[in-house]
Amino acid sequence: MEALSLDDVKPGMKIAKDILSSSGKVLLFSGSYVKASYIDKLRNLGIEKVYIDKNDSFIKIYEDFSIRVEDIFTNAFKSGLIDVECVEAILDALIDIVGEIDFNIILLNRLQKKDFYTYYHSLDVCLYSLAVGKNIEMDDKELRDLGRGALLHDVGKCEVPDDILLKPGKLTDEEFELIKRHTNKGYEILLKTGVYNDSVARIALEHHEKWDGSGYPLGIRDEQISFWARIVTIADIYDALTSDRVYKSKVLPHEAAEYILSNAGLILDPVLTKVFLFAIDVYPVGARVLLSTGEEGIVIDSNRSFPLRPKIKISTTDKIIDLEKHPSVFIKNLI
Ligand SMILES: [Fe+2]
Repeated sequence: MEALSLDDVKPGMKIAKDILSSSGKVLLFSGSYVKASYIDKLRNLGIEKVYIDKNDSFIKIYEDFSIRVEDIFTNAFKSGLIDVECVEAILDALIDIVGEIDFNIILLNRLQKKDFYTYYHSLDVCLYSLAVGKNIEMDDKELRDLGRGALLHDVGKCEVPDDILLKPGKLTDEEFELIKRHTNKGYEILLKTGVYNDSVARIALEHHEKWDGSGYPLGIRDEQISFWARIVTIADIYDALTSDRVYKSKVLPHEAAEYILSNAGLILDPVLTKVFLFAIDVYPVGARVLLSTGEEGIVIDSNRSFPLRPKIKISTTDKIIDLEKHPSVFIKNLI
């Protein structure tokens, strides 16, 4: 445990001692993770120092988990089965923290180990999917099943050689066919493990299907694609866009969000796309943004119907712009 000046406290760090107001009221409990929006609020309340658990941050836990996901894939390759206990242990932790974190922290702070992409990606897709599930108030059993399928959606890639998965250039037709097989292979591994129901396994099978029928392996469309797979598809694409890959650089979260939204009703479920963008909170309250007008401001309220058009308070004045009511103004960048 270490006392840090508030200026050195970063989102994702774990609080090691309750933070109290001057009247003794608990502002933040020990064990919670710092969000970007907390830092300004604590400063305004006159808090100068925060006790931080230096051995434990969300980013560190995440890196540890990526190694466990690698083990799950290795085991699946060797035995054709999932290490069920390991999956449950990861899920316990992810379900616990999904409401506590800023997703932008994952994207902006994690190590960009390109050869580890599949393992980080599995965790990201699981977290995003859980966030959607929580947002639509899935019950605990459904949420857990969605999390299981999301965490394991790409497990069929365990049989794709690294030189194809990590190939920087264009894939040959044969290589692409081999990659496409990870959907059927994942489905097969999940069913063979014997503890996952068909709905969970179908997440692996159908996560590359598209709303307009242009996906693979089945080419099914809209509601023919299972509800859970439609959630995971959105999470999968969003995470791929916001990650560095061997063959492309990442785009910023809000750029990926615009791309996702522009595909709502085309390749993605239109309703779930909006739920997704609201659930992952692309512009969290407290985020600093640059508007197309050149003004800088802070997000003060989110918008469920139009998740990319929150309310902004302009920094140098008391002016508030509700972007839903000003369609010609848009957020140009997060700053
Ligand atoms: Fe995939």
